[in-house]
Amino acid sequence: MTDTRPRVLITGASGGFGCEFARQLEQRGYRLLLHGRDKPRMQMTLHVLKSPHDHDCLYADLSVDSAREEFIETVKQYPDLYGLVNNAGFGVWGAFERREINPQMGVLLTNLVAPVDLTHALLPTLRRNRGFIINVSSLAGETPLPNMSTYAAAKAGLTYWSEAMRVEIEREVRVVTLAPGPSPTGFRDVSGMPEGPGSSFRSRARLIIEESLKKLDRGGGYCVPGKRHKLLYLLQKITPRRLSLRLMAHYFRH
Ligand SMILES: NC(=O)c1ccc[n+]([C@@H]2O[C@H](COP(=O)([O-])OP(=O)(O)OC[C@H]3O[C@@H](n4cnc5c(N)ncnc54)[C@H](OP(=O)(O)O)[C@@H]3O)[C@@H](O)[C@H]2O)c1
Repeated sequence: MTDTRPRVLITGASGGFGCEFARQLEQRGYRLLLHGRDKPRMQMTLHVLKSPHDHDCLYADLSVDSAREEFIETVKQYPDLYGLVNNAGFGVWGAFERREINPQMGVLLTNLVAPVDLTHALLPTLRRNRGFIINVSSLAGETPLPNMSTYAAAKAGLTYWSEAMRVEIEREVRVVTLAPGPSPTGFRDVSGMPEGPGSSFRSRARLIIEESLKKLDRGGGYCVPGKRHKLLYLLQKITPRRLSLRLMAHYFRH
């Protein structure tokens, strides 16, 4: 019997939020296209799924133009694609001038350019299937972050693009712009960021992904998940830019 379940692509499915998206979307009855770079880490995601053999895995470094283009061509071959979760991302901690340019360009390419590129290529299929997009941005996109400047710039760009595009296509494709604060995933280790006072705002991946899917059920929108991240967002909104820059420079100091 052919499997007629709609399919969802999750980028960065080999890590924290991506793994949790995979778990919750499988529970909702979707067939998954799981993307990552690291095969052993992807095994850990497959391990938490109920029917790992029902899903396909694809590997590509989204910060490399040729690899991203090849990946996009492969995904375009799935006419049953119903959902796209642009989740892959990472940050680089450290003063802009002191860190090498390549990883910082990688931050922009992976967090901002890749979602824009993938979405443009896959929108005709998603529109035909009246599907959905979830763009995983961050509260880092709400405040400039000294010592994490390219990450904040990428997420600010992602949020603005995602929100504008959401309104353009809202009658045909539901879009969620997910903007979480800190969460205990692999993110901190990859970025090299030290532990800091912001850790008290941490929320679990399970809650964050649940909230984003509830937002999707309500037709899409901007989603700041959970009470802690909502409080952080409120503090970002009421703190004057000059003061927040000083506070962030202190928090993210090198
Ligand atoms: N955790 C937080 O505090 C937090 C808060 C707000 C927003 N976010 C956002 O949430 C998303 C998921 O991050 P996470 O917290 O789950 O971190 P994570 O555990 O480090 O997972 C990141 C995922 O992105 C993939 N990835 C990274 N660079 C890539 C590249 N160049 N090409 C392809 N895939 C790449 C990784 O793949 P491999 O492991 O296979 O290399 C991994 O699957 C990111 O967009 C991040 O910016 C995280």
